[in-house]
Amino acid sequence: MDWGMKNRLARIIKPETGRGVMLAVDHGYFLGPTERLEVPRKTIQPLLPYADSLMLTRGVLRTSVDANFPVPVVLRVSGGASIIGKDLSNEKITTSIKEAIRLNVTALALSIFVGAQHEHESLISLAKLVDEGEEYGIPVLAVTAVGKELEKRDARYLSLACRIAAEFGAHLVKTYYCENFEKVVESCPVPVIIAGGPKLANELDALQLTYDALQAGAVGVDMGRNIWQSDYPVSIIKAVRAIVHENASVKEAHELFNRLKNKEQTTKTATSV
Ligand code: 5RP
Repeated sequence: MDWGMKNRLARIIKPETGRGVMLAVDHGYFLGPTERLEVPRKTIQPLLPYADSLMLTRGVLRTSVDANFPVPVVLRVSGGASIIGKDLSNEKITTSIKEAIRLNVTALALSIFVGAQHEHESLISLAKLVDEGEEYGIPVLAVTAVGKELEKRDARYLSLACRIAAEFGAHLVKTYYCENFEKVVESCPVPVIIAGGPKLANELDALQLTYDALQAGAVGVDMGRNIWQSDYPVSIIKAVRAIVHENASVKEAHELFNRLKNKEQTTKTATSV
């Protein structure tokens, strides 16, 4: 692997632990002002020190993240459909490689829609993006999107989607956790990270999801709503980090969360007075 590619990947998956915590805040590209991400800067800023990398669009990057904060950026470069439109799978590449280089990004991210109407276009876009990324030493994160018509979150479907992404040259694959997740990881020859998905019932469930995914071989998380839709986003991201980087058990991480959340509550109360 080329030095630049290796170096960029090491900024996302930390060599010290072989794992990474990516904070996903790209949801607006098809969901608009998602709950608790209405003002991106407000949501992102307190979490930045605890994110190994940040996944977002160029619009939110330019407007809502200070350029002098050294967080590695994973730039979402696919889009073109919205939650109220006809077909979520109808995405194309929306941002050029030149623009990505101008923004000094660490990786490029694009969704693929295996089994959906626009499966073919999304896979060809992945191939094109990998070609461009390889030319400049920029890794590509393939996001195995399931879309609203594809509620197929099982190991059979996700293995298929992840393996296809890897075969097309993705350097990293993001998918959803499912039963028998080790099968998904085993059959995907590049590192796998998990999305958190919609907000779970409580933080304990989010920590359990993180733990189970890592036990099954995931190298980290690309988590959004289960962090910033929590009432205690800083506490939960720190607890997730404890599992990812310090091998904390779910119990240890949850105890840490409970200790931190009291402090976070006190800080919130103090600043709102
Ligand atoms: C949407 C995405 C999101 O970044 C991804 O789903 C992670 O966020 P969350 O943990 O909220 O699911 O790629 O297509």
